[in-house]
Amino acid sequence: MRPIGIDDIELATAHHVVDLSTLAEATGTDPNKFRLGLGQDQFSFPAPDEDAVTMGAAAAAPIIERCGTEGIRTLLFATESGIDQSKAAGISVHKLLGLPSQVRVTEFKEACFAGTAALQAAIGIVSRNPGERVLVIASDVARYELDSPGEPTQGAGAVAMLVSADPRLIEIEQVSGLFAADVDDFWRPNDSTTAIVDGGLSVTAYLDALSGAWDDLQEQGGPALAEIDRILYHQPFTKMAKKAQLHLGQHAGEELSCDLPEIGADGVARVGSQDAASADRQGAAGEAPGTPRDTGLATSTLYNRRLGNTYTASVFAALAALLDHDDDLEGRRIGFFSYGSGSASEFFTGRVLPGYASRSRRDDVAEALDARVPLSVEAYRALHSTVLGSADDVETPRVTSAPFRFAGVKGRARVYERS
Ligand code: COA
Repeated sequence: MRPIGIDDIELATAHHVVDLSTLAEATGTDPNKFRLGLGQDQFSFPAPDEDAVTMGAAAAAPIIERCGTEGIRTLLFATESGIDQSKAAGISVHKLLGLPSQVRVTEFKEACFAGTAALQAAIGIVSRNPGERVLVIASDVARYELDSPGEPTQGAGAVAMLVSADPRLIEIEQVSGLFAADVDDFWRPNDSTTAIVDGGLSVTAYLDALSGAWDDLQEQGGPALAEIDRILYHQPFTKMAKKAQLHLGQHAGEELSCDLPEIGADGVARVGSQDAASADRQGAAGEAPGTPRDTGLATSTLYNRRLGNTYTASVFAALAALLDHDDDLEGRRIGFFSYGSGSASEFFTGRVLPGYASRSRRDDVAEALDARVPLSVEAYRALHSTVLGSADDVETPRVTSAPFRFAGVKGRARVYERS
């Protein structure tokens, strides 16, 4: 059977950034609570003319430029920041990207898990029609109430992936561990622009789901923990990945390194003694006996600690960070734990393919993160409080420097355009 998996991947984020040190100062919070306690440095925040559609299109556009549209007959858009109750956000992306008409377009939803659901559906489609390719886009704006515990864990970003047979980056393996449970840890009612979250419950529900999905992976004949070289987790805040790593190690009976990046005096996150630009060679040279095994946890958090929570995109932003910073991945098996509140989750694995390193997007991602325009806390909170309804026609101010923008509402429909 031909391998199927991720052939190309690209990350995009929003126009603005809020530095958590400024939020800490404004709210009289010790900045170390955010930096060390939550493992977050910043969060991306959308301009008024950005949303999940514009970020998703921005992530997918370079993939289309590199790989063309041939064979792309499905576009799956995963989000919990839906722009309409009926129309899939992917339809607007389909238009912005100029994709052919012969494309199956739909939207996936189950909190932060939906990106994984879309990826697995894409693999199913390609296994039936190996000549086809599927564009998977996971894009979200994570928004919590001002002054709530979730506020510093907001974020915005999108990951686009091209799924195909004979992929160039990662072959996704067949066996998955699954876990679903009805739990009210986090949700967003139809009439609310912010999520409702029981933070403590979301942490325990996540960890319960991790052991549940792990046990199912083992029952289904999946690899033992020792056979998985790197592990990526959904990261609503990167400290959650550390909690998950500790939990999995204890549950599966192996001591895994739970170190997150070190924060230098300059505020920059570094992995080991190196900075993010030359991070991680964990596992390559073999660790001293008795040293907890390093599975790339710190490296996998490098983007998310600057993006904030990107919901459906989060575990794939962790993948992007790993692919961009770890030069010893060839042939190695990566474990992915995807969790969506409510809840649905999956533990699956993939093998990194030769030549992946030549496709590193590290410099472009660093440039995009650095190029974000900082917002004062006052300005960010004013934007946060601006809720655009659909009752009246409105034109949004031209702010974003992204390739696509949300132009406004006309006749109660949202209008998108190239910038
Ligand atoms: N220096 C270093 N660490 C500090 C600190 C300081 N000055 N002050 C607090 N901390 C640590 C705490 O010890 C705690 O660490 P722990 O989790 O290892 O115990 C951590 O910072 C958080 O502190 P806490 O008081 O528990 O924070 P909180 O009440 O503000 O809420 C969350 C934390 C995660 C519950 C909250 O941010 C939240 O609800 N986030 C959203 C969660 C979410 O999105 N879930 C859905 C998807 S899974």
